[in-house]
Amino acid sequence: MNLAELNKIANAMVAKGKGILAADESTGTIQKRFDKIGVQNIEDNRRDYRELLFRATDAMKNHISGVILYDETIRQKAKDGTPFVKLIEAAGAVPGIKVDAGAKPLALSKDETVTEGLDGLRERLIEYHKLGARFAKWRATYDPTEGRPSYNCINANAQGLARYAALCQENGIVPIVEPEVLMDGDNSIETCEAVTEWVLRETFQQLYYSNVALEGMILKPNMVIAGKKAARRAGIDEVAEKTVKLLKRCVPSAVPGIAFLSGGQSDEEATAHLNAMNAGYDLPWALTFSYGRALQAAPQKAWSGKADNVGAAQAAFAHRARMNSLAATGQWKPDLEKKAA
Ligand code: 13P
Repeated sequence: MNLAELNKIANAMVAKGKGILAADESTGTIQKRFDKIGVQNIEDNRRDYRELLFRATDAMKNHISGVILYDETIRQKAKDGTPFVKLIEAAGAVPGIKVDAGAKPLALSKDETVTEGLDGLRERLIEYHKLGARFAKWRATYDPTEGRPSYNCINANAQGLARYAALCQENGIVPIVEPEVLMDGDNSIETCEAVTEWVLRETFQQLYYSNVALEGMILKPNMVIAGKKAARRAGIDEVAEKTVKLLKRCVPSAVPGIAFLSGGQSDEEATAHLNAMNAGYDLPWALTFSYGRALQAAPQKAWSGKADNVGAAQAAFAHRARMNSLAATGQWKPDLEKKAA
């Protein structure tokens, strides 16, 4: 393992004031996004949409440190034949790749999942490295309602994350380790906090058993937040305080950076929470964003599949990228959103 090189990549992924664009929607997931804006899910449309993001020069150069791609996208070329990987590199960002094969039902368990994709992963990582990927992502999910998750679910997923992370480091790729406690249910913020703590502790234990070097990885967790359908939604300061305190208890400072998922928070909520953490606390790691929906919902709506709207979509993306970039250094203010509206 070349840890110095892995550490250099990890630090670039969480460079000050920059964050990661999660554009790794599988063909099935992008279908859900395109359905909302009435766009047909064909390869040309997927290419045109991703191309408009990667060609949004201001956003990419100033605010985006890395882009998570999907198997189709890492092999894809822009309309003029330039490989997407080259566009991303030209903007100074690091190309990455989602390598898990999705969350599948966990056998003999009620409504729980285990993330699959370890078979043949070493060979796939070697190929992705040749295609330009310097980091990867693997996401495990946990539903914090009705007595879930079980220890079996937490342990199986932690082992998967750890085995994936070790394979990445063996092959010169920085693993983004993403254990996601879901925020779709009616659970309280306290339940999210307790489950997230259990999940993170088990994940770091398994990373240790698998010899994963913490200096050569990035953690991508959920924030500590009440479920969307919860009776009481916590305010911004409470989310920030509970999240920072929990991360300080569970994440060693050897980890170069933590890049949150947005998980279905509104665009502005995701930005405000990140900002409150960076503005209000001394932190031992870089704390930034690795957002999918919270960076892309606005440009998707502005684009709606029409070539004439490409400029407006790029402006919408640039705005969200800039807001989150400010949040990553604690300098975002709500009135910056209003001015742009
Ligand atoms: P969201 O920000 O939409 O949660 O997506 C981030 C991600 O990469 C989920 O795996």
